[in-house]
Amino acid sequence: MLATSKTKICIIIGDPVRHSLSPLMHNHAYKQTNLEGKFIFIAARVKNKQLSTVFPALKHMQVQGITCTAPHKQTVIKYLDQIDSTASIIDAVNTVVKEKAGYKGYNTDWLGVVDPLEKLTDLKNKKIALLGAGGAARAAVYGLLKKGARLTIFNRTQDKAQKLVEEFAAMAKYKAKSAGLDELSTIPNYQIIVNTTSVGLKQDKSLIKPDWLKQNHIVFDAVYSEAGTRLINDAQAKKAQVITGKEMLLYQGIAQYELYTGQKAPVQAMKNILNL
Ligand code: ATR
Repeated sequence: MLATSKTKICIIIGDPVRHSLSPLMHNHAYKQTNLEGKFIFIAARVKNKQLSTVFPALKHMQVQGITCTAPHKQTVIKYLDQIDSTASIIDAVNTVVKEKAGYKGYNTDWLGVVDPLEKLTDLKNKKIALLGAGGAARAAVYGLLKKGARLTIFNRTQDKAQKLVEEFAAMAKYKAKSAGLDELSTIPNYQIIVNTTSVGLKQDKSLIKPDWLKQNHIVFDAVYSEAGTRLINDAQAKKAQVITGKEMLLYQGIAQYELYTGQKAPVQAMKNILNL
């Protein structure tokens, strides 16, 4: 079915955005659930300084769903009419939905971290090394602490990791710890490794030396690369279990689809189109 004047528009905004697989994943899901023509998902490159004009315009246009990616996940909050309590704690929004009372911001990124890990293991009391303390790390810290993991946040700028520890201290039984990258040689002592730094995004590099990886590690790289990141490839060479950035995209997208359409997501179809 073709789009009509009644078609509900969903859009991903970010800079850059051309690499995004969200339109493909959502449009394929609409097709599988007979929502093709009722919903359409598009992408637009929106630079930082354009958000103040673009976001209010999207609201005027009555756009149904607005997916926010870097660099807008925190700056978008000031344009929202409401924010969900989880997104407020994480202090980042990746999903904005047109609701009766206005545009409400949600965060589904934390599910993108927690759901694929929970398919492999129970997170309670697991020793987890989280690399990074930026925007992506915030959702991961929230989700992993909520599930009762014992977390150490490693970051190049350790002060930022310590700030995250303090910020989330109230919500968890086990206070997270912070560490600098010079302490990464302790990686063999952890059960799960989660990379949220941008290392590996543009270069074939990893912060983790292959020698530190073991077969019984679970290695999650939020960075997505079709060829596999260095970290994922090194972990696979050690026969460790791996979770890629594409799986994070899928699981945050499942929750997002349900918020935009009010229907259950066609999980298998979404996996298929992402080759997962
Ligand atoms: P995102 O929203 O994707 O998390 P971000 O907020 O810019 O992006 O955070 C990027 C993360 O990658 C930070 O933890 C950053 O470390 P600093 O806080 O010290 O800047 C980390 N990072 C980026 N480039 C890095 C590099 N070359 N080596 C180590 N860490 C790096």
